[in-house]
Amino acid sequence: MPRPPITPAPPLAEGVGLPWDVPVADAVAEIARARAAYGDTFEVRSGRDRYLFVFSPVGVESFYALPEEAASKGVADYLMLRRKLPDELFDGRRTLPGTLFRRDDVAHYLANLDRALVAAADELGDSGTVDVFALTRRLAHRMGLASWAGPGSADGATFDRLVRALDALDGAEAFVHPDAMAAVAASGKAAELAALAEVEDVLGAALARYDAGEREATGLFARIADAWDGEPSVVRRQGVARDVALIHVASMSNLAAALGWVLVDLLAHPAVLDGVLAGDRDLAERSALESTRLAQRSIMSRAALTEVELDDGRASYRVPAGTTIATLLPLLNTTAGPGLDSWDPDRWNRWKLADTGTLASPQLVTAFGHGRHSCPAQPFSLAAMTAAATGLLGRFELTPTWTEHPQPVPAQIGGVARSAAPCEASYRRR
Ligand code: HEM
Repeated sequence: MPRPPITPAPPLAEGVGLPWDVPVADAVAEIARARAAYGDTFEVRSGRDRYLFVFSPVGVESFYALPEEAASKGVADYLMLRRKLPDELFDGRRTLPGTLFRRDDVAHYLANLDRALVAAADELGDSGTVDVFALTRRLAHRMGLASWAGPGSADGATFDRLVRALDALDGAEAFVHPDAMAAVAASGKAAELAALAEVEDVLGAALARYDAGEREATGLFARIADAWDGEPSVVRRQGVARDVALIHVASMSNLAAALGWVLVDLLAHPAVLDGVLAGDRDLAERSALESTRLAQRSIMSRAALTEVELDDGRASYRVPAGTTIATLLPLLNTTAGPGLDSWDPDRWNRWKLADTGTLASPQLVTAFGHGRHSCPAQPFSLAAMTAAATGLLGRFELTPTWTEHPQPVPAQIGGVARSAAPCEASYRRR
């Protein structure tokens, strides 16, 4: 059956496709070309799906105001992530990533970050070379697994087994390498299912240790395990492992990459780095916001569950169920006003842009989102990036080997940019 149209009909971006459906050299450039040709509101038909992209000030404000019941971020995320993650990971979850940021939780995660920084420094030794993004990723894995994966999960061979399995499972690949998703589908997600089985195996052992009385500093893991109390042991073991896996995969979508960009940018701005290392936390947080803003590669999307109205300032569109409404941060964050293409932590004040006078809407620029779906992990993420940047660059003097600013993976459409090439720095302990 032909789908009902969007009315009035927005311009249709002829020949434009999205990278999980058709080969696209640069996913962001593809949408930028469509915007240049068709204006701030246009329709894209890709694969079997229909997208309404909006970029005008009123269009973006209307986008952030859409109610979840009618135009769902949760469903849009699921439709994206299921290209990579097996359905088994979504079914029956009892502790969800949105519930991780109570005040005590954050203090616990930050304490684990301190321990992870000590472990990272031990692994680095006195001098050598390191890929900055590999370093921040391993750090985030260790902090996360110490925070929610139970006894022993952040140490030794168990940690390395979990990192291997969780890197194979990694749901972010759905938007970092969308061009690889056809192969994932063709394999029946064999590698991902094997990785999930491995996670269940390793975390089963952690649960056994927890049940045997190793309960010290188990934090969130205790909450996850208790939610499965009373279930048959096979069900509980699998349920706990899958809750942890989904939380961990969600936590890895942005934070590690954003921290990598903070390091890259601080190394390029030695005067700011000096201020950060002298203990200026506010400057460190503003630097983290600024690096995150510039590295944003996110497609923000909402799946229409019923017919919804969307006003872009020139027309009010009736958007039928089944359509995805979207905007793309990299096409707004650096161009919505003058000077936004440069790195300047002073443009931030109390987690907001200090001067929005040159923007047609303050919502045209963001690091952590606007409105009801804005990131619940922002305070934690900024504290973690501050502590990690200070902890790493305070312990080690890093000298970049890259000569040009690193570039994002071209096919990436979602999340914080991953670097297209390794970013090696030589280091020596201070
Ligand atoms: C630098 C790190 C991070 C950045 C830049 C970031 C960015 C964002 C953005 C832009 C949104 C809004 C998306 C939208 O409106 O469509 C969001 C939502 C969300 N983020 Fe983060 N995030 C980060 C870290 C984390 C971490 C560590 C977690 C932990 C699991 C997390 C969990 C979530 C959740 C659950 C939502 C959805 C909230 C809702 O739908 O109400 N984020 N994030």
